[in-house]
Amino acid sequence: MIVKYNEDKIAKEIANLLNKYSDLSYPFKFTPQLIKGSNIKYLPLLVINKVAGCIGLKSVIRNAIPATEVCHLVVDPNFRRKGLATLLYKWAIKMSPTKNIFCYIRTNNIGSIKAAERAGFIKKHERRYKKRVIGFYIYGDKNE
Ligand SMILES: CC(C)(COP(=O)(O)OP(=O)(O)OC[C@H]1O[C@@H](n2cnc3c(N)ncnc32)[C@H](O)[C@@H]1OP(=O)(O)O)[C@@H](O)C(=O)NCCC(=O)NCCS
Repeated sequence: MIVKYNEDKIAKEIANLLNKYSDLSYPFKFTPQLIKGSNIKYLPLLVINKVAGCIGLKSVIRNAIPATEVCHLVVDPNFRRKGLATLLYKWAIKMSPTKNIFCYIRTNNIGSIKAAERAGFIKKHERRYKKRVIGFYIYGDKNE
């Protein structure tokens, strides 16, 4: 069977997934148009021709060096605990246009932290609020 890649359908499914399940700390409404026109490159993970998860790559300058920020990771609840987030983090490292790649994950997001570490990311800096650690900056390296 030949499955035709349908950009509009995939953008719509990514927007739906992010609207329903993303872990953003601020309210945001994703639309297929925003996904397609965004400066974030979304990698969709398809299972039986449907988006089961996605991850975003954003080009930024960090500490005066070009870097890639990994963001907007989400896995459909029907497909969780099957290693898809780990796979998406690995894919993000592979697809990163820069050697430096990082993401910020809140401390309470154990699943995301574990998946990132399994994919080869390493915790480097803590983010604190009123002396309490609230999240980690986690770094990957394409050459590791
Ligand atoms: C976090 C999230 C992406 C994890 O996706 P996933 O595909 O289930 O992750 P993986 O299967 O790769 O999990 C890797 C490991 O993390 C741990 N883990 C995953 N989800 C967990 C949870 N809810 N609680 C505790 N540990 C968890 C497990 O050890 C798991 O391995 P195991 O199933 O072999 O024990 C998913 O729960 C999700 O989409 N959450 C909402 C959005 C979100 O939080 N995005 C990340 C923002 S940084």
